[in-house]
Amino acid sequence: METEVVIIDEQNIDEKALEALKHAGEIIKKGGLVAFPTETVYGLGGDALNPESSKKIYAAKGRPSDNPLIVHVADMESIEKIVKEVPEEAYKLADAVWPGPLTMIMNKSDAVPYETTGGLDTVAIRMPSNKIAAELIRQSGGYIAAPSANLSGRPSPTEAKYCVEDLDGRVEMIIDGGQVGIGLESTIVDLTVEPPMILRPGYVTREMLDDILGGVSIDKTILSADSGVKPKAPGMKYRHYAPKGDLTIVEGDPEKVTEYINKEIEKLRAEGVKTGVIATSETRDLYKADVVKSAGNRDDEEEIARNLFSILRQFDDENVGCMYSEAFNENGIGQAIMNRLLKAAGHKVVRI
Ligand code: TXA
Ligand code: MG
Repeated sequence: METEVVIIDEQNIDEKALEALKHAGEIIKKGGLVAFPTETVYGLGGDALNPESSKKIYAAKGRPSDNPLIVHVADMESIEKIVKEVPEEAYKLADAVWPGPLTMIMNKSDAVPYETTGGLDTVAIRMPSNKIAAELIRQSGGYIAAPSANLSGRPSPTEAKYCVEDLDGRVEMIIDGGQVGIGLESTIVDLTVEPPMILRPGYVTREMLDDILGGVSIDKTILSADSGVKPKAPGMKYRHYAPKGDLTIVEGDPEKVTEYINKEIEKLRAEGVKTGVIATSETRDLYKADVVKSAGNRDDEEEIARNLFSILRQFDDENVGCMYSEAFNENGIGQAIMNRLLKAAGHKVVRI
């Protein structure tokens, strides 16, 4: 299949851009696939209410079909058709954070095929704030099922070039809307349990959800090392975001961390292994690895979040065999950063 790439400026959706989005909407309505930008990561979109489209999404990603998809909507009214009942909490959360980087799990109605929910009776719903995404949803009939637009097992794409890398020839269209703002996938909160439970950390933090709802719980498997307990979001059990090389997180006193990593690098170099380090602006010059990447300033979690997936992909491009990463603060979006990093590392952590 020939993949068409269209560039659209989110800040200037003019006549030409609208035409392109209309065309993209037609593709989705006819059962085709379009990769598109959201504020979190790029999505791989198809018609959420068409079981054939969902099957195509799984095939294009190479993803196991028991891993449910998120249904993206553009307005609150659309939700009524796809859920049994809109819970009170959903209105509160929508008021506070939608459109935005939050996904809510509710009980699904018959309108949503099991192909989209991976066989579950619940459905994940998100209203993205990215204007290109919102317009595409409207032009597509209102319901876009979209996982992150990467091949299964690779880091989620934060720029269109990474969608091209993974999906060229597998989808009808890729919309290039530039680099995303957040860089990590949405927070997922399950509203079918009491109290609501966070299944995946993201930009919308536990503190924010606590403030809005007056109490939430958190899936224990999120930050723990591989405990053998099955996470509640089926997708969280897979080793996502996996770089091709071997990644280890090193936690502890900053000076000792640098010292430890440099020692390990020396050993690996003697064995002829190409090495990499995920550092911060404060520490990047201290490392002796072949490839050193700064994720950003130590205290700027948002910058680190934006850069993380791209850095993991760059290590792949440079065929780095063994990587070390510093551990990051867990303030704000920091908890989501460490959750993704732990997965990328297959939970390999050295504490010194
Ligand atoms: O930011 C995002 O959420 C991005 C953009 C494209 O919107 N999408 C995304 O989709 O990250 P994906 O498919 O990569 O991750 C969806 C996660 C998976 O871990 C999946 O298991 C979980 O959501 N999920 C979906 N439906 C669910 C359900 N009904 N119950 C529990 N978990 C669910
Ligand atoms: Mg994903």
